[in-house]
Amino acid sequence: MNYKISPSILAADFNDLGDNIALVEKERADYLHIDVMDGVFVPSISFGMPVIKSIRKKSSLFFDVHLMIVDPDRYIENFAECGADGITVHLEASKDIDRTVSLIRSTGKKVGLSISPETPVSDITDEILKKTDMILVMTVRPGFGGQKYMDECTQKIREVRKRAEELGMDLDIEVDGGIDRKTITTVIDAGANVIVMGSSIFNGDIRQNMKYFRKVLGI
Ligand code: DX5
Ligand code: ZN
Repeated sequence: MNYKISPSILAADFNDLGDNIALVEKERADYLHIDVMDGVFVPSISFGMPVIKSIRKKSSLFFDVHLMIVDPDRYIENFAECGADGITVHLEASKDIDRTVSLIRSTGKKVGLSISPETPVSDITDEILKKTDMILVMTVRPGFGGQKYMDECTQKIREVRKRAEELGMDLDIEVDGGIDRKTITTVIDAGANVIVMGSSIFNGDIRQNMKYFRKVLGI
């Protein structure tokens, strides 16, 4: 399995954001997970284009942009321009998911589609699944870092992996929320390969945390 670590900067020290990013980059993070929240799709507001544009100047990591915003079509072009490498939208937030996915594809960026814990995997049709590069299975309710992993989501990871295999797809399956030293084995066993971690990377010794998780994943 092609495992990837995607540290979520939501848990970074914003006073020291550039240094925190440089540190995970040096410790061979694969992606950088960037959570954009609009205060409507989720209760909280995080940051947007200017921050991404600014960190883009110093980092060559794959920018894994997770849009937790309503009607994401309005901003896909902007996020592509400010430095995203992959753009993930929520199925629940789009008025016409086929159109949204095509819009991301037209920018040349990787296409990600996310489902919140209450959304069943069956809401993703085969037709849409085939048009994505990555499915993000949320393992907490989107909106905040530092929440507890929801065990009921493990089955959904398995289900997405099974669907992808049936379709003969080499699909990336990302998990996000409450992944730590305990739950990481659960999500890998279920078939996830892109692991987002906020608190468990940025709280404490970032270097040691990165080394620990790379070792667990054998990368
Ligand atoms: C939550 C965000 C996550 C968050 C994860 O809505 O999408 O990316 O940063 O944080 P942890 O790893 O602390 O649960
Ligand atoms: Zn996220």
